[in-house]
Amino acid sequence: MNVAARTSIPAWKRGWPWQEGAAGRFSPFKAVIFAALLLPALWLLWRTAQHDLGPRPLTELILQTGTWGVRILLVSLFVTPLRQILRYGRLALIRRMTGVAAALYLASHFSLYMANHAFVPEKIITEIAKSNYLIIGLIALICLLLLLATSTDAMLRRLGGRRWQMLHRLVFPAAMLGAWHYFLQVKADIFQPLLIIGFLAWLLGYRLWRRWRPQGMALPLWAVIVLGVFAALLTMAIEAAYFSWKIGAAVVPRVLEANLSIDMGLRPGIWVLLAATGVTLVAGLATIRARRS
Ligand code: HEM
Repeated sequence: MNVAARTSIPAWKRGWPWQEGAAGRFSPFKAVIFAALLLPALWLLWRTAQHDLGPRPLTELILQTGTWGVRILLVSLFVTPLRQILRYGRLALIRRMTGVAAALYLASHFSLYMANHAFVPEKIITEIAKSNYLIIGLIALICLLLLLATSTDAMLRRLGGRRWQMLHRLVFPAAMLGAWHYFLQVKADIFQPLLIIGFLAWLLGYRLWRRWRPQGMALPLWAVIVLGVFAALLTMAIEAAYFSWKIGAAVVPRVLEANLSIDMGLRPGIWVLLAATGVTLVAGLATIRARRS
């Protein structure tokens, strides 16, 4: 399609999440990801309509939107490294969509929190002010909302590529603060926050290491797995430190033992290691196939 024809298509007809390119072509790949991002919200709406949220429906919705928000945020952070490691350029198509979805889930999380306090400003402000984990969550959310507000093409043009990119690096502190908020508020089971912290450690290691590489060069596969091992060990160390602080130093050998056995299921550190190994294997196979063809 020529430029004149492309520009004659009004923006509202080509800006939908399931479209790609300037011509607004239907993209099955984007449509599937969009549907997947929508599913948790639809499921929660369904449960709300069925009165299936337990005795404290608002609290359940706060927990669910927080959990889905942080998971989708993590997925959005994985898009660029996976695109580079797996050499699958089309992943770039879902970067903005996943980031926007994460911010929207977390904005609903906060709105539900306010609803739980009947939207009374004094109550909300006093409760946030006296609780560290809420202050941390709020800072993370403000960062994400700033990114959401500047996520459009028009804002990218207005800010200029360099400034926009620098601003959008805020997603890393936001994700770290979000994970910390999650870790602080869970009462007993730290499995999921630890998993998120482990994946975040891998992602941050990847970003930092890549900064030292000559422009545009992806990390070699051995670096991907070294980072995986490092992130897994860090996750185990945080788990051991947490239980040592909660129960006492004597529990540390048992935590490490649990990481090496499958009797109690796989621990978060092992999941991080398995994920890094899986990505490395898939990328290795893709490289071999590319060399052969
Ligand atoms: C980027 C920012 C944020 C992220 C990633 C986030 C994520 C989460 C996650 C994952 C949970 C735990 C869900 C579970 O245990 O299953 C949670 C719980 C919670 N969050 Fe957030 N949150 C954020 C911001 C906020 C803000 C701004 C507030 C309110 C000021 C807030 C209030 C709460 C409350 C009250 C709970 C616990 C509910 C309960 O245990 O009764 N969060 N959040």
